Amino acid sequence: ETERTLAIIKPDGVSGNHTNSVKETILDHGFKIKEESFIQLDEDHVKSFYAEHSSRSFFPSLVEYMTSGPVLIMVLEKGNAVADWRALIGPTDPLKAKVTHPHSVRAICGLNLQNNCVHGSDSHQSASREISFFFKTTPSGQITKPI
Ligand code: CMP
Repeated sequence: ETERTLAIIKPDGVSGNHTNSVKETILDHGFKIKEESFIQLDEDHVKSFYAEHSSRSFFPSLVEYMTSGPVLIMVLEKGNAVADWRALIGPTDPLKAKVTHPHSVRAICGLNLQNNCVHGSDSHQSASREISFFFKTTPSGQITKPI
């Protein structure tokens, strides 16, 4: 069944010139990019988007990192999009991914546990929350430009 998920190329991915290769990987694996936008997140965006992590010790650093430069947000669509995009990006920590999932996106373009190049929604519930955080969807399913 066709579904949608949210992908983000994070500031380290954009500044490290990984945008085109990550998008190629996405398309090669059968995803459609339904909508995309380069945006500069501010502190309020990041604190709200990552609210579930607000009590973690890494949160202040995460906010600084995610506001450090533009990100590319994309709505991806295909059958099993949520799980398939998570599988394609690999483990959260790129240093572990290099060992266990060497062909994953994070193994290839991530730097460390924080600067891990890309984001993917971790569940259907997260996907719908995260897509509607950035984009509007019309009743017919059309996605329009972001925040
Ligand atoms: P992501 O899975 O997109 O969402 C939470 C982000 O917090 C994660 O990627 C990393 O960029 C960052 N992060 C930093 N430290 C940690 C940690 N110890 N555990 C999980 N995520 C972390």
